Amino acid sequence: MEKHLDFDVRINRKGTDSIKYDFAKEMNKEEDLLPLWVADMDFKVSSYICDAIKQQADHGIYGYSDSKDDYFQAVADWCLKYHSWRVKREWLIKTPGVVFALATAIKAYTQVGDSVMICRPVYHPFANVIKDNGRNLVDCSLKLKEDGRYYLNFEDMEKKIREEKVKLFLLCSPHNPSGRVWTKGELEEIARLCLKYEIIVVSDEIHADLVFKGKHYVFASIDSPIKDQCVICMAPSKTFNIAGLQVSNIFIENEKLREKFKAEMRACGITEVNGAGIVAAKVAYREGEEWYLHMMDYVRKNIEYVKSFIENRIPRLKVMDSEATYLLWIDFRALGIKEKELTNFIEKKAGLWLSNGEIFGPQGAGFQRMNVACCRELLQEALEKLEKSVKELT
Ligand SMILES: Cc1ncc(COP(=O)(O)O)c(C=O)c1O
Repeated sequence: MEKHLDFDVRINRKGTDSIKYDFAKEMNKEEDLLPLWVADMDFKVSSYICDAIKQQADHGIYGYSDSKDDYFQAVADWCLKYHSWRVKREWLIKTPGVVFALATAIKAYTQVGDSVMICRPVYHPFANVIKDNGRNLVDCSLKLKEDGRYYLNFEDMEKKIREEKVKLFLLCSPHNPSGRVWTKGELEEIARLCLKYEIIVVSDEIHADLVFKGKHYVFASIDSPIKDQCVICMAPSKTFNIAGLQVSNIFIENEKLREKFKAEMRACGITEVNGAGIVAAKVAYREGEEWYLHMMDYVRKNIEYVKSFIENRIPRLKVMDSEATYLLWIDFRALGIKEKELTNFIEKKAGLWLSNGEIFGPQGAGFQRMNVACCRELLQEALEKLEKSVKELT
């Protein structure tokens, strides 16, 4: 019986070596800030996962492990049920993380100096893995339209693809930080351009299970030959809150691309992933559905709570309408505070630790990202602090 369904419980994560809670000093922050930044949840995971890990811990031998058919079947059943996507066993490669997979793909499919395209603002390691591997970052900015949502700029995309001879495109789908779910039409247009210019698409779909509105389409599942030219990165880490256990599922249908990816992994000395991660991921996909559905319901209500609180009590801020992820993208520009001072204001006056918009690219200036995967009591406390500090501004 599932036991961990009370998401209102406030759990003390301090003293657990949690990046979110225990590293303020190392990151030059005050110790007592309320942390709503890095993307993990403050919720206890499914009790099935805890029990499976306890059982493994009790066994007392932690040698090299790998996964078998039952692991693949658990992942494949989830992909079919939640994404109507039928995967084959040979497509699957496990990695210790999605960012590792992005870096591996860049190294496997491009050379130093080659152009890799992203659309900022976007999850900041996208830019880092390009620059850190000596590739040329090509930024095709998202367009913020009057309806307050981000759109892909296909005209600019094609121009930059041609001018910069782009070889690889890192797609964030659904989109972090805005929570945008790309439509089938938008994905088809990306596919059309990438086929035309022979660009490999690496689609980071780590947030695919966290969709509250609309429908997420796995990039390789759209009706297009692009499936032969792409890498799909999925993971149980966000869905089931097991990021620290370091297992991700990467799917590559094209055999040549798959072999190149594997060779690059071997060159990095990685042949297995964390044994506890395999245990957790398998049980999560098999038994974690009830927890997942309750979590989605709770987070959906948190999102509504934040939106309505800000609309009614801090109307100078604007929450972007999101469709996915437990991350909210909040526009602080109406406060007229300059970027460096904005972080200062949020930390020193409101006592909060959010993700500063500019880390996602210069387009994020004036925005902050708030992680709402926490108990409502903490969220209420955070919003009241924010309300008070904004009122004191005037
Ligand atoms: C879009 C996106 N990709 C990747 C990651 C991190 O993945 P991993 O921890 O598996 O490297 C995150 C975490 O927030 C993310 O939002």
